[in-house]
Amino acid sequence: MLKYDVLVIGSGGAGMQAALVAAKSGELNVALMTKVFPTRSATCCAQGGTNAALRNVDKSDSIEKHAFDTIKGSDFLADQDAVEFFVSLLPETILELDYFGVPFSRLEDGTIAQRPFGGQSHPRTCYSADKIGAVVLHTLYEQCLKNQVNILTEWFLLDLVVENEQIIGVVAMNMKTGDIHPILAKAVVLATGGAGRVYWNRTTNPFASTGDGMAAAFRVGVALKDPEFVQFHPTGLAGTGILMSEACRGEGGYLLNNKGERFMQRYAPEKMELATRDLVSQAIETEIKEGRGFGEGINAYVLLDLRHLGREKILERLPQIRELAIQFEGIDPIEQPIPVRPSCHYSMGGIDVIDYKTCATVVKGLYAAGECSCISIHGANRLGGNSTAEAVAFGKVAGKAAAEYAQNVGFSSEKKVNECAKKWENEYNIAVSRTNGPSVASIRSRLAETMWLNVGVFRKEKEMLQAAKDVDALIEEYKYCVVGDKNRIYNTAFTQYIELGNMLTVAKAIVIGALNRRESRGSHKREDYPQRDDKNYLKHTIITLEGSEYKLSYRPVVITKYQPAERRY
Ligand code: FUM
Repeated sequence: MLKYDVLVIGSGGAGMQAALVAAKSGELNVALMTKVFPTRSATCCAQGGTNAALRNVDKSDSIEKHAFDTIKGSDFLADQDAVEFFVSLLPETILELDYFGVPFSRLEDGTIAQRPFGGQSHPRTCYSADKIGAVVLHTLYEQCLKNQVNILTEWFLLDLVVENEQIIGVVAMNMKTGDIHPILAKAVVLATGGAGRVYWNRTTNPFASTGDGMAAAFRVGVALKDPEFVQFHPTGLAGTGILMSEACRGEGGYLLNNKGERFMQRYAPEKMELATRDLVSQAIETEIKEGRGFGEGINAYVLLDLRHLGREKILERLPQIRELAIQFEGIDPIEQPIPVRPSCHYSMGGIDVIDYKTCATVVKGLYAAGECSCISIHGANRLGGNSTAEAVAFGKVAGKAAAEYAQNVGFSSEKKVNECAKKWENEYNIAVSRTNGPSVASIRSRLAETMWLNVGVFRKEKEMLQAAKDVDALIEEYKYCVVGDKNRIYNTAFTQYIELGNMLTVAKAIVIGALNRRESRGSHKREDYPQRDDKNYLKHTIITLEGSEYKLSYRPVVITKYQPAERRY
């Protein structure tokens, strides 16, 4: 049986950092398991940059200002102690990545270049043209190889195994052979990314973002925290939802409606296109709803105009944006404005982390970092550039804590992981043998449709009740879902079937959280409760699984020194 001291699941920025730190921390056997090739993890889609108050461009920036911008951006739902800890880690973490070899763009004096980003008071987003995620991943991958991390490429997590409230291992499928393996692990770090594919085509996320770690943690008793806070990035390509980085606006791009107006003037007169993402997305959707967009229905859009930046700047700072716009929309931004519309981008909520200094969950030995986790640093709205920052900073925190934990416990017996693997063998055989029933694709597109139409940028009770009904019905249908392929080798029909189950699990939590939060805060914009309500809702949503029931409770927000106030941009 495979046995690891520390097993990290997910190979984005958080997972690779966790594995690297654990591997460097002593004589530990560390593995990094990923369902994709490591450098193809969701982090590779990150474009605009990573925040850190390095003060290279603006000496008046500070760690404290970064903390305040993050807390204000979160609509005061972030835990302030966790945010203060987070931002204090970043300068050192970025300099370490620089030392590892990340090819950051440079200022003339040779220091790391920083650009303005939404909701921030100073230019502090460290960038590498518009490809930060890809370069960070490639650099960390080299470091993991150099430090003898065992890399399990194309292995799919099926379940976590817990005994006496302690993690003892996992069950996973080797996708190349289809074999189902019990694996013992003393400590497990979940770094499995977000669940943006719940909205299927209207997302900036890759196909892999299906909430696998969130659902697995939920099944073993860990809460999902604040799941209703789903970030819609203002500028996804109109046709495909593909990300057009906030860096486009950071570099000076405009948003225009069908009257040629820079409409952000009406919504955020000071910050304009660089207001926070929740506000810019809501502004775009309002323009479309009120007839000032282009096109119709789900394909309606506004324009992102970069032409005035000039060819040279676009080629130097936004080369990938240009390539994506040409390939997927047939538009060259040097010559024409780009059609854009909000697109699901990020899960602010996720696996409930109960100690931000270790990324621990309620299950002993189980840690979570990156987008799958909810450390409560983003609250109701995350600032652009704080996601890769969170991944690289808290990946290290989780890896260090997992390594320390693993050094002080032994392996459990093999019995329970073996039993769990047998259960999954059985489940596999039943699922691939079904012949009559709905397909994965059919359930998945109906899930996305109800989520986009009823739990999207704007939300109302009646529509969310419809979504709740739809998701419950789809969960029932899923029990009879046809996989359609019995072949063991690369049975992606089976892994997509499991991913769909995970998305349904997370979607139900999103809907329950959203229905029960009767206020508007950050990305959760309710037309029937348009105001923020600190008296009743300055608290985190906590959803746990009891039997097959979702139980809802709340937890207070941690306030240190920043009193909640109305946000203006
Ligand atoms: O717009 C972007 O480049 C995305 C960055 C982020 O989500 O942090």
